[in-house]
Amino acid sequence: MGVNFLDSCGVKIPISGVNLGIPIKPAVRTPEEMKAVAYDPASLDSIKEPLYYMYRDVWGVVGECGNLCKKHGLRYDITIIQNGFMGEEYYKTLGHIHPLIKEKNETYPELYEVLSGKAAFLIQKNDLTDFQVIFAEEGTHALIPPDYGHATVNIGNTPLIMGNLVADGFLSNYEPILKKHGMAYYVLKSGLKENPNYEEHPKPFKRRATSGPSLSLLFKKDPSHYERLLR
Ligand SMILES: [Fe+2]
Repeated sequence: MGVNFLDSCGVKIPISGVNLGIPIKPAVRTPEEMKAVAYDPASLDSIKEPLYYMYRDVWGVVGECGNLCKKHGLRYDITIIQNGFMGEEYYKTLGHIHPLIKEKNETYPELYEVLSGKAAFLIQKNDLTDFQVIFAEEGTHALIPPDYGHATVNIGNTPLIMGNLVADGFLSNYEPILKKHGMAYYVLKSGLKENPNYEEHPKPFKRRATSGPSLSLLFKKDPSHYERLLR
């Protein structure tokens, strides 16, 4: 497999398959772990490789944004989701919600950018009054608003590489999504399918992600703007 490069905060990160040429050991999500949220858990028995790879705090290790990130209490991660299917369902992330910002009584938001590939960001309000599918491709951004849970689906036929800027130090809460065996809808080859473990299924609102310059360019230009991710 050839080596490509990701531009991120003043450095070119070599990437070969799911391996980034940086000194971070990725956390992985195994097929066994994904059974809890899959439409067809048994389909994962035949999958041997991890479905996705999470490189946390990339800017803390490479590039010019590390000190700025630290100063503003933020962290930038890169996640690579393999392309493929669990039976009829596209590969996806487990899904989680964010903890509360105590002073505001709402949960932390998070900002994503797609670096390569095609994504469907699934976001659902924690009180289940809203469910959205945000279609995103390279050079676009998707905001996970406060009080929304989210999961990302790789709907392309190449690995999906995405970066996220988020408040450093909080722990994602996987429990509510695990309990329901996934988000309110599964993304299958045939389209969206209601998850029967939910009593309500808000009508999905589909939209396209907004395009814009890379997060590293935006962040370097006006880092304090991104403190809105903290409070
Ligand atoms: Fe998140």
